[in-house]
Amino acid sequence: QTQISFFEAVGGQATFHRIVAAFYREVAEDEVLRPLYPEEDLGPAERRLRMFLEQYWGGPRTYSDERGHPRLRMRHHPFKVGPIERDAWLRAMRIAVAEIEPEVLDDAHRKQLLDYFEMAANSLMNSPF
Ligand code: HEM
Repeated sequence: QTQISFFEAVGGQATFHRIVAAFYREVAEDEVLRPLYPEEDLGPAERRLRMFLEQYWGGPRTYSDERGHPRLRMRHHPFKVGPIERDAWLRAMRIAVAEIEPEVLDDAHRKQLLDYFEMAANSLMNSPF
């Protein structure tokens, strides 16, 4: 295997750290998303999403070491995720990804990442309204 992972190709931990930090900065100010988060401190949730994404894209497997199998649909059951929540989540994530410079995240990788987020957010909906 000489091919580098997506994780490495887009700048590794630093890039995922920036994306997820910007995402939670948006969540903190979002009137749809913020009330969904059970903990007052968003720090632990930020860390879980960051670990998950790093692992998903071929980086360190810390998420599963700490949390086991992701089972994301199950883990989202306690929260109502309808079209409004999905759109709010995607809006925050698109803002976060847009902050990464094209020198770090080129068009092809950017599209791959945004397509994935759209697919994943749709797949985690658990309410039609
Ligand atoms: C956890 C909301 C989509 C990945 C959570 C939590 C909430 C939430 C409220 C609990 C926070 C915590 O970790 O304590 C939503 C909403 C979504 C959404 C409203 C809209 C569609 C996604 C997507 C992904 C994702 C698309 C992945 C690409 C995660 C992960 C956790 C999590 C990894 C932590 C799971 C764990 O407990 O280990 N989400 N989420 N979520 N979400 Fe989402």
